[in-house]
Amino acid sequence: LNFQQATFLTSAPDIRALPADEGIEVAFAGRSNAGKSSALNTLTRQKSLARTSKTPGRTQLINVFQMNDQQRLIDLPGYGFAKVPLAVKQKWQKALSEYLIKRQSLQGLIVLMDIRHPLKDLDQDLIHWAVESQLPVRILLTKADKLSPGPRKKALLQVSEAALAFMGDVQVQVFSSLSKQGLPELEQALRLWFNP
Ligand code: GTP
Ligand code: MG
Repeated sequence: LNFQQATFLTSAPDIRALPADEGIEVAFAGRSNAGKSSALNTLTRQKSLARTSKTPGRTQLINVFQMNDQQRLIDLPGYGFAKVPLAVKQKWQKALSEYLIKRQSLQGLIVLMDIRHPLKDLDQDLIHWAVESQLPVRILLTKADKLSPGPRKKALLQVSEAALAFMGDVQVQVFSSLSKQGLPELEQALRLWFNP
């Protein structure tokens, strides 16, 4: 499985516009600006496969990237961004929850959180829902380069401990698209999901 082979397939406003629900998909979810698109670019070693932005709310569609016709990576719209009009927010929210509930090929969820602001309410809701749906979760504490090693380790320990309370398959790791810290662990975890 070669993530570098990933190519852009489509941007879907809702799940009806997605490719056939076959094979295996792993989705990247998290608050706006958490670093989802950046992590996908780091994973695939492509500078601008997924569009990133300093402005939260950049990714407004379900973006699909594929390694091959049976293995896909999904960049989901971010949640929790206050400045988006309510109607728009509700539309994304609907697309997001529909995707999570109905997509059979969804094999695991990568939940990205800024290491300085982990486990907000919406993150917790998402993880609770995934555990209930028996979907494995891997939390990436992103932008790890923004903390020095001490606080970074402390954050990892705190979130790892909190993750136990979800009573499900919830793993935690640190990650940085800037320094590439955590990239090998992410790849390893994804390989397991893509080759069950
Ligand atoms: P939405 O599409 O709005 O939901 O955001 P997103 O989660 O896709 O975030 P994106 O990857 O666009 O990154 C948001 C901002 O954070 C950009 O300015 C990135 O350059 C920055 N960023 C992402 N990852 C890292 C990281 O590992 N380290 C640092 N220092 N900045 C990062
Ligand atoms: Mg994005």
